[in-house]
Amino acid sequence: MKHTNGSIEIVTGSMFSGKTEEVIRRLRRARIARQQVQVFKPVIDNRYGLEKITSHAGTEFEATPVARSTDIPPLLKPETTVVAIDEAQFFDYGVVGLANELADRGLRVIVAGLDTDFRGEPFGPMPQLMAVAEQVDKLHAICAISGEEASRTQRLINGQPAYFDEPVVAVGAAELYEARSRQHHAVPRRPAAMPSVQPVPPGQPEFLGGVLVSAEQIRDRVAELGAMISRDYVGKELVLLCILRGGVMFLTDLMRQVSLPHTVEFMAISSYEPGVRKSTGQVRIHLDVKQDIAGKHILVVEDIVDTGHTLARVLDLLNTREPASLRICTLLDKAERRETQVPVDYVGFTIPNHFVVGYGLDVDEYHRNLPYIGIVKPGFNIG
Ligand code: PRP
Repeated sequence: MKHTNGSIEIVTGSMFSGKTEEVIRRLRRARIARQQVQVFKPVIDNRYGLEKITSHAGTEFEATPVARSTDIPPLLKPETTVVAIDEAQFFDYGVVGLANELADRGLRVIVAGLDTDFRGEPFGPMPQLMAVAEQVDKLHAICAISGEEASRTQRLINGQPAYFDEPVVAVGAAELYEARSRQHHAVPRRPAAMPSVQPVPPGQPEFLGGVLVSAEQIRDRVAELGAMISRDYVGKELVLLCILRGGVMFLTDLMRQVSLPHTVEFMAISSYEPGVRKSTGQVRIHLDVKQDIAGKHILVVEDIVDTGHTLARVLDLLNTREPASLRICTLLDKAERRETQVPVDYVGFTIPNHFVVGYGLDVDEYHRNLPYIGIVKPGFNIG
């Protein structure tokens, strides 16, 4: 008994939302209706696994593991009228064309998969599949925190929310997934959105063309950075190494958000002469750290990374002293201006190429005390 009209049905949602259970229910009903059913699932990590799909509730249905979408058509039997594809988020994008083609031929295509990954980002070909489908059912799990409906998959590494840019396989870590509602889904180190220019409040210096990052935005982001650092350096001998003078305001706020015991150190560096707006690459060290940093975990705290010359020089020097680790935390990253690559581990805000001032950054040594990051009007002559 053939379907006269082919169609695509999507069963999607977070982990533990019952997708496979729902697909198996539909397949059993199809069999009762004397439909010929075939199920495919992706090979994950080169492991073919068992020839079945299994729901978290334990129900099973036989399935054929395939490496790619092009493996499916040669395996289809002429009498098949219902094709199910499980874990479709792991398939290549060819699965979209295949689902369409099968539906055009009059088959009923049932596709199950995660709509979003652990970061809350659309997962693989699922958005396209949902767009071309006749029917989309989003299932919900139960939030492990609040007991509300859950739409997100939370990834935990050693019990803590995984970072946005965490490697797919965290070596030696205990990994766990659970369902969470939007409110309780946590993804630290998500790149902060590029700040948009806000008007200058009344009474502020007239050379300012706008506020790029407000005092409130700085406060919130510094708290986030402090929480991440507190998570990452548990049990480690942490030294916050501030690069004077621009980094000083950031350091004093950041260290109050780092809940771990730590020490602070200072280096005074200059790469810009007064009146010069671009790093010369001639970096001068005016003050060096006091303590022996060998075997310690050094986190360099900077106000801004621009061309990268200053930090490249600082890292070269510090690496010769054999710290246990050497990482960078900068409030601002003017990434588009980079002339030499430096590995920046924590970024407050990635900003466009404006001449910025405030929160430690100077214009000819002044205005470091502004509580926000302001933009100097192009061509404005302060002196
Ligand atoms: C600023 C800033 C960084 C450096 C970044 O320092 O504090 O250290 O420039 O520029 P780069 O990535 O192009 O090298 P500056 O020399 O102005 O000294 P300051 O911190 O005393 O203001």
